[in-house]
Amino acid sequence: MSYWDGEMIHEKIYSELLSLLEGEHPWMTILSTTACTLHHGFSHFHWTGFYCVSAHDVLSVGPYQGSHGCLTIPFSRGVCGAAARTQKTQWVRDVHAIEDHIACSSTTNSEVVVPLLWDGNVIAVLDVDSDIPDAFSQQDVQLLEKIAQLIAQRYPSCPSFFIR
Ligand code: SME
Repeated sequence: MSYWDGEMIHEKIYSELLSLLEGEHPWMTILSTTACTLHHGFSHFHWTGFYCVSAHDVLSVGPYQGSHGCLTIPFSRGVCGAAARTQKTQWVRDVHAIEDHIACSSTTNSEVVVPLLWDGNVIAVLDVDSDIPDAFSQQDVQLLEKIAQLIAQRYPSCPSFFIR
């Protein structure tokens, strides 16, 4: 069970997202809808969004919900950079314990960043921050990974943001 929410919430959110994304192709539509669905689906998700690879080893903020995020993050910095660099999920129970954490908001206490991979390369990362310490459960992380995989699979049919 998630920290705040009922037992079935993960399945419910995943099904809702699958049905919302059915037949949708523009990459921005997919990312925006995913950020919105997750952000409003979980009461402990206080910043929810994407950083997309915009140049070699550079992430730029993409669709998100919450207060302003940092605009540009190199692969060499922060928790998002670590997820992009290592291609591994970063589950940070206490951001204050991570020297390299980039504090876009002073209220953030915990964070999960999941890479989106296509053809062996990182195309984006899904970042979720919470003001609550150690807010994320194993089920939260598994759901975020499942969603990251789902939408990364759609990337080849979305070669540009709006126009194919
Ligand atoms: N905390 C992230 C930066 C992104 S913001 O949290 C939205 C990091 O350390 O990479």
